[in-house]
Amino acid sequence: MLISLKGQVALVTGASSGLGAGAARGLAASGAAVVVNYHSQPEPAEKLVDEIRAAGGQAIAVGADVSKENEVERLFAATLDAFGRLDILVANSGLQKDAAIAELTLEDWNTVINVNLTGQFLCARAALRQFAKQTIRSDISRALGKIIHMSSVHQVIPWAGHVNYAASKGGVDLLMRSIAQEVGEQRIRVNSIAPGAIRTAINTEATTGDAEKKLLKLIPYGRVGEAEDVANAVVWLASDASDYVHGATLFIDGGMSLYPEFRNNG
Ligand code: BGC
Repeated sequence: MLISLKGQVALVTGASSGLGAGAARGLAASGAAVVVNYHSQPEPAEKLVDEIRAAGGQAIAVGADVSKENEVERLFAATLDAFGRLDILVANSGLQKDAAIAELTLEDWNTVINVNLTGQFLCARAALRQFAKQTIRSDISRALGKIIHMSSVHQVIPWAGHVNYAASKGGVDLLMRSIAQEVGEQRIRVNSIAPGAIRTAINTEATTGDAEKKLLKLIPYGRVGEAEDVANAVVWLASDASDYVHGATLFIDGGMSLYPEFRNNG
């Protein structure tokens, strides 16, 4: 099946860099009009919009902090103003504030939960409210709408020194599955992607030199992932090629979640 998202509108949060930027590129290349949301960096977001337009696609950049209810409302209003509808939400914004548990401040706990978990709730809720105002357009998709949550292998792998992050992603798992259970009969598909180690700016230290060698021990497939590996999964989950996939988490991790330490008999 050849994937085309022509006529569909996608909103990608946290799309000025990393996995979000990759997802926006992939969705635009498949024909979707894309809203590139950014938090604090308009320049790379605008650059990405220019790149998408230069390739013949449609895109706009909109700044908003996904952890703030009024900013999320503004983001969705801007999407509607620009493109008139919404078909695909990629709730991607996320960050890390790492510390050993005894040193972790309440502020850093709250920031990570607010962006990674509450932000996904606020964006999913806004998308569902918008989908409810629309009807299925069978010429563009069998679904009324699609939501893709960006989770992490750390929704199942505990992560010492990153308890706020792991807790937020564990939360994303049950957020996603509970929403999927609730809205499936409205023909709204809800799924997650759980990336492992991907070569993005957030991971530069871990994915170069000796650190990369150490990291590769945790990846049975033997290579670090690229943003495009994740973008391909986003495009598939957004398309009718995955029309019977609902409430699922797709691990894009080269096997990181396979307990690789047990390869040699434990
Ligand atoms: C984190 C990365 C990490 C990867 C595997 C991701 O969710 O953002 O920093 O390398 O999980 O541990």
